[in-house]
Amino acid sequence: MNVVSTDRSVRALLKQGIEQLRGANVPSFTLAAELLLLHVAGRDRTWLYSHPEETLAEPAAEAYFVLITRRRSGEPTQHLTGKQEFWGLEFEVTPDVLIPRPETEHLIEVALDRLAAREIRAGRTPRTSGEGITLVDIGTGSGCIALTLAKELPAATIFATDVSKAALNVARRNASRHALADRVHFVESNLFAAFRPDLGAVRVAPQLDKACGPLFDLLISNPPYVGRREAGLLPVEVRQHEPEAALFGGDEGYEFYGVLIPEAVHHLKPGGLLVLELGYNSLRAVQPLLDTSHWCAVGVTNDLAGIPRVLAAERLSRPR
Ligand SMILES: C[S@@+](CC[C@H](N)C(=O)[O-])C[C@H]1O[C@@H](n2cnc3c(N)ncnc32)[C@H](O)[C@@H]1O
Repeated sequence: MNVVSTDRSVRALLKQGIEQLRGANVPSFTLAAELLLLHVAGRDRTWLYSHPEETLAEPAAEAYFVLITRRRSGEPTQHLTGKQEFWGLEFEVTPDVLIPRPETEHLIEVALDRLAAREIRAGRTPRTSGEGITLVDIGTGSGCIALTLAKELPAATIFATDVSKAALNVARRNASRHALADRVHFVESNLFAAFRPDLGAVRVAPQLDKACGPLFDLLISNPPYVGRREAGLLPVEVRQHEPEAALFGGDEGYEFYGVLIPEAVHHLKPGGLLVLELGYNSLRAVQPLLDTSHWCAVGVTNDLAGIPRVLAAERLSRPR
């Protein structure tokens, strides 16, 4: 039973919420209390500190404390509010998808930088609309990567896959939310299965008939990369509330890359770009997978915490 204090002012509710979350060792407890209060009040951040004396109706205050209790027991704030911002866009999130993480924005930066560099090399202006570019986001989850690229590259042809039907439903709703439903082809697929011409890929994309070579100029992915061995070390928010298929890449965590990278060779055009997110300890196991005659221009980008976070490479025109 949640006790609603007699003082239902914004200031008092926030203070109590913060105290309760701090007492339960919830990470980022102040931000969580703010977001939950804003959610029940249906307001934005500026309101929070400009109207500290405003009083919430009793049902709203009660709803707030219900959310505070759920947050204390480990439910992620984003599951309680149903949303998360990524690259300045708001995405619906549910327990069926990974909550978009800020470090994944580095993937977008690297992909756009690499595409711009290609334009410069081709003697064109670096700012590209994505014209003539076909890209795929493998394991799209909420759709945050594919939909952000759809905004940034308005002329690109974009595919986004996931093995999870439920995740694809969330991604499709996010596409509609951002008026991008006609820009991204969402495809249910285990890795590249849906793009294999011998398995009827032409149903997915008419370009994919048997006569065609590789389809993609850019292959981007934030794959599952946590090791099952490390499951016990994950915070409760992640371990109990985010989908297993989005988290675990195998016992060690890097196994998924071992399938993805060799297959990518067959789906990227010569000169095509591979851009992958890495787990905090993946680099040592994953970078050697690019030490084959198919890849060049391998680069690693650190995140803001100094962790190698993005691995990028170019598919050689002709294997060495
Ligand atoms: C780490 S999450 C990334 C989600 C989203 N792209 C993001 O960055 O927030 C990995 C995603 O890959 C999907 N996935 C797992 N195994 C897959 C497979 N074999 N083929 C395609 N997608 C897969 C999961 O369902 C999940 O949505």
